[in-house]
Amino acid sequence: MKKFLAAASAIVVACSMASCGAKKETSKQTTVKKTIGIAMPSQKLERWNNDGESLKSQFEQAGYSVDLRFSENDADQQNTDINGMLKDGVDLLLIAAVDGTTLSDTLTVAKEKNIPVVAYDRLIMDTDALTYYVSFDNYAVGKLQGEFVKSKLYLTSTTSEYNIEFVAGDAGDNNARYFFNGAYDVLKPYIDNNTLHIRSGKNTFEQVATKDWSSEIAEQNMKETLASYYKDTELHVALCANDSTALGVANALASDYKGKNTPIITGQDGDVANLKNIVDGTQSMTVYKNVHDEAAVAFEVCRMLLDGDIPTSKLAGEFENIKVNYDSESYNNGVRYIQSYLLVPNVITSENLQLLVDNGSYKWDSEKKYLESAK
Ligand code: BGC
Repeated sequence: MKKFLAAASAIVVACSMASCGAKKETSKQTTVKKTIGIAMPSQKLERWNNDGESLKSQFEQAGYSVDLRFSENDADQQNTDINGMLKDGVDLLLIAAVDGTTLSDTLTVAKEKNIPVVAYDRLIMDTDALTYYVSFDNYAVGKLQGEFVKSKLYLTSTTSEYNIEFVAGDAGDNNARYFFNGAYDVLKPYIDNNTLHIRSGKNTFEQVATKDWSSEIAEQNMKETLASYYKDTELHVALCANDSTALGVANALASDYKGKNTPIITGQDGDVANLKNIVDGTQSMTVYKNVHDEAAVAFEVCRMLLDGDIPTSKLAGEFENIKVNYDSESYNNGVRYIQSYLLVPNVITSENLQLLVDNGSYKWDSEKKYLESAK
């Protein structure tokens, strides 16, 4: 099979592959257009808009119809949306779950109708309807955040002591625990040997989870933490799981933090506002996940399923510019291990922002100071 190209070129590949498919199945593609139901969590966060748009354009350019719905972070709404798609007769469901634990009943209907279900970015729990999972290596995302802090503070050799607070994601998002655990596992030895102190004492995922990954809730929580524990104490690190929480924390620090040093703030996604903060020095890093690549891999998995093919480990090696690992032993959804295609995340700091321009996702603004979306 020929190699698939990444990101910008993926759409062109999709088109050319669609025309190959059309040759094989001319009557099917011209008379009955297959429809993909794409369920995204929310339009409030920059990334899901990018994912939705990228997926939609790839499927449409390949000759499919697309029913794309955003559920405004409301799990009930997402169930209603997916039920609507099933009623309308979609041929496949690609779902980034609002809450991965609430879709079982709805997906039983998909199973009865033989509609393949692919989990996008977030694993869907407690269902035997799920066939595949496409995401980034979520534990690796958290590890990169932890490693960044470890290296910035020279934790292996320092004799100083530092204060850290953790800010995690939504408890209904299966990814959120992986991110927290990845970061915590890297930093735990330094918490255990008293190089790092969590003054709030909040050292479990449940204690630091942020409902809906909301910037406003993260801001409020951090303000409370600052008021209770950091009135006369320096905070050195806010280990934030993603960019929306990092944004809230940066706002809280700007208004309420009186310490002398500038705390390290981590993030994830590479949202435009956070890339600006990275340039301005109010966020230290973000773990960048190229969602156009993620969409390109998801597209291939779905296309194969729609063609009646079975995606296997081999598919992972067939993307030209995207590093993808096939993993059938890490993601168990409570029913079984789900065959997963996991992409590899990267650390972005003020030093390597140009990489995001080089990969076609962003462009410099007119003053070549901040990045903006390349679209
Ligand atoms: C995604 C992150 C995103 C977060 C909030 C997670 O499931 O993997 O990229 O920042 O949800 O939307």
